[in-house]
Amino acid sequence: MRFGLIGAGAFGALRAAAVRKSTTNRLTAVFDQAQEAARSVAGKDAKVFASPQSLIEADDVDAVIISTPPQFHEPLAVAAAKNGKHAIVEKPMAPTVEACRRMVQAATEAKKLLTIGFNHRYFPALKMLRDTVSSGELGKLSHVRAFAGHNGLANFRAPWFYDPEIQGGGALTDNGIHVLDLCRYVMGDFREIYGQTRNNVWELGEAEDNAFGLFRNDDGVVCSLHATWTEWKGYRFHVEAYGDRGMARAYYAPMQFMKIIVGKPGGPPKRTTNYYPGAIIREKLKGWQTTTIAALQEEMDDFAALASGETRDKGRLSTGQDGLRSMEVVKATYASGKAVQAIKLDPLPELWEITPR
Ligand SMILES: NC(=O)c1ccc[n+]([C@@H]2O[C@H](COP(=O)([O-])OP(=O)(O)OC[C@H]3O[C@@H](n4cnc5c(N)ncnc54)[C@H](O)[C@@H]3O)[C@@H](O)[C@H]2O)c1
Repeated sequence: MRFGLIGAGAFGALRAAAVRKSTTNRLTAVFDQAQEAARSVAGKDAKVFASPQSLIEADDVDAVIISTPPQFHEPLAVAAAKNGKHAIVEKPMAPTVEACRRMVQAATEAKKLLTIGFNHRYFPALKMLRDTVSSGELGKLSHVRAFAGHNGLANFRAPWFYDPEIQGGGALTDNGIHVLDLCRYVMGDFREIYGQTRNNVWELGEAEDNAFGLFRNDDGVVCSLHATWTEWKGYRFHVEAYGDRGMARAYYAPMQFMKIIVGKPGGPPKRTTNYYPGAIIREKLKGWQTTTIAALQEEMDDFAALASGETRDKGRLSTGQDGLRSMEVVKATYASGKAVQAIKLDPLPELWEITPR
């Protein structure tokens, strides 16, 4: 698959590196409003374009990666669909639910694949967690407990990261949305939302520094999620799933998976831990980016296979609907906190299920 990249900043550069590592994908085009950034990421093998529209229309671009600040995701993704191009859009999908809906609608009408950059689904410990839950090893699923931590303004490169007009919110839309998506990936969709937010550390108005969500699915499985920009130990997250026959936990960083299986409630525990020494040593030598690039490469290989009609997808790749739902959950968390009452979400319409080809 021939990819064109719009937005050659810090994360766009990792996407470009992941495309280049693939044996089946190629980076053919780059646009960034900062031409120097575009030239640097394009290197010798990709062409630098003078406008996003000319890149989207280019014959040697099959799919567009959109890695700009989030307020530009909608117009670029809609233009990609209208020009018959598949798209990978970075998280958060867009600052408003309405923009996310329009993006799903455009991709659906064009019958083009739209995926959202929930690449943590491809981290080895998270794949293991999801597969353990789906295998039924934990018994009947009871609840999921999750945490998404970051040290906030101490570590942001630009003010747009904490501008709610651009990001759509605060900690929950930034690092939190990855883990929110991972919880849905493990336990299915959320239907009831209760939330609270706090903002007494960074004092950023509508961009909360801590968000707390209690989410419930149609089977009564409960998820608790805490997303924060005040985790002074730095970037880390975990997702834990508890069933009536055991529990499993995926953690990063460092990458770790652990499960405890009990034959019956309170029975003797059988514990298994995976430490991923290869990933840990590689990160120590070459940086955390290597883990991200590996996940992005796998995600984009799945994307390319699915877009060209192969059936290699194992249900890992996120869809536009996942991006839309995650933003609906974020906004419902905020609204619930203000109203101090739970909010019920409608089921996602099946009409919008994307049929890639
Ligand atoms: N999946 C992940 O784990 C992950 C991690 C970090 C960032 N992100 C997401 O990736 C996206 C980009 O983040 P980043 O960290 O690379 O930001 P960044 O600020 O480093 O880069 C953004 C780039 O977009 C360019 N740009 C801005 N407006 C543009 C426009 N209208 N058209 C074309 N280019 C434009 C800027 O010049 C800059 O080079 C955001 O949506 C962010 O949330 C995802």
